[in-house]
Amino acid sequence: MSKKLWGGRFGKKTDPLVEEFTKSVHFDKRLAAYDVVGSMAHVKILKKSGYLKTVEASRLLKALASVQKSVAKGVFKPGAADEDIHTAIQNTLQKKVGDLALKLHTARSRNDQVAVATKLYCKVSLLKAEVAISGLIDALAASADKNKRIIMPGFTHLQHAQPVYLKDHLGAYIEMLKRDIGRLQRISAFIKVTMGSGALAGTPINAASYFVKGREIGGFGEAFDISAAVNALDAVSDRDFVIEILSALAITGVHLSRFSEDLVIWSTKEFGFVDIDDAFCTGSSLMPQKRNPDVLELARGYAGRLCGNLVSVLTTMKGLPLTYNRDMQLDKEPLFDSFRIVLSEAKVLTGLVKTLKFNAGKIGKQLEDESLYATDLVYYLVKKGIAFKNAHTIVGKLVKYSADKGVEIKHMAQADLGKFSDKLVKREIVKLFDPKVSVESKRSIKR
Ligand code: ARG
Repeated sequence: MSKKLWGGRFGKKTDPLVEEFTKSVHFDKRLAAYDVVGSMAHVKILKKSGYLKTVEASRLLKALASVQKSVAKGVFKPGAADEDIHTAIQNTLQKKVGDLALKLHTARSRNDQVAVATKLYCKVSLLKAEVAISGLIDALAASADKNKRIIMPGFTHLQHAQPVYLKDHLGAYIEMLKRDIGRLQRISAFIKVTMGSGALAGTPINAASYFVKGREIGGFGEAFDISAAVNALDAVSDRDFVIEILSALAITGVHLSRFSEDLVIWSTKEFGFVDIDDAFCTGSSLMPQKRNPDVLELARGYAGRLCGNLVSVLTTMKGLPLTYNRDMQLDKEPLFDSFRIVLSEAKVLTGLVKTLKFNAGKIGKQLEDESLYATDLVYYLVKKGIAFKNAHTIVGKLVKYSADKGVEIKHMAQADLGKFSDKLVKREIVKLFDPKVSVESKRSIKR
């Protein structure tokens, strides 16, 4: 019995270097459970179309179920000579049911098999990613709520801009992550699991026989229903779904990286806005005082890998002629890697967020900076009938004067204020240098 799914045409043994170079079983073994499910569907299709007798189909399904069990238990071991997971499962079946296993490959190619297994893997992994990200959203929402009264300086260009609620700053990340979940859901709904391409040209089996319900092959829902491909060539050469997922995961990675960077900055001694719990910090082997935000740094750094994985598959696919090419085997490591990274990041950040302690005192101290209220002064003048552009210039000059003279605007005499505009009334403007008044005056936000 040949260990390979091909070989008849060959007069020589494959060079061991080629075996080593071309094999993928060491990573695509992660697709085992999905390859089994695809094979179960294929058995049903072969039975419907008369290629398998009922008893044969039952024996094959039973054997596949036992492979499924050993995969689930984590004891399924591909043989040393198995080229990929599809070969490994086929060879295992042959050990279980003898030559009947050879009929399973009727009208089937690994080109189609790998697309089916990868799509099923993606749909399941997308759900896991959604759950992990929504866990992080919940942790952020709880922290936002716990600190709902804290007002902080909002930043643009990392310079003091205007006061904002801390809960809104955290809420911005919640919005990003909600969009991320929506993106993953849309991608999943868009992935159609198809069969019947054969190697590329289609098979002699009727398209109608390819309809298999998700629940018939492993208790999956409707999203996992299988049907015949609209275009057989496209179905074996399409990796758009991989690219879309890698893109979505890279976007999530960028969001998590930005969030991490905010916390890295906020946890410095200079800022002191937040304390990261001991359980989520690491130390230094040399400097005993150190509590380093390594988790956040890695979450920031992993964004590079996530973007790289996207570019890797895009570059692999660019210029490939139709249809299947072996280059496409290289989509899996980046795909598995990106899912693993986002899942672990979302989980560890959830723990970190749950234990964050915001330092209201230190944050509040920053709100004494008068420049944060300059825009409120502009709105004040606008309300008194001054054109926005002119009000902007007046307040700009006032801020410069205050900085140059080292005197705060709220401490300036009415006579001095009057030099900038006769509309500036000291008794009224002193009330504007108040964080609460400032944030509550913003009416455009749906709260
Ligand atoms: N292991 C391959 C992959 O992941 C599938 C095998 C297709 N091989 C072939 N010679 N047509 O893409």
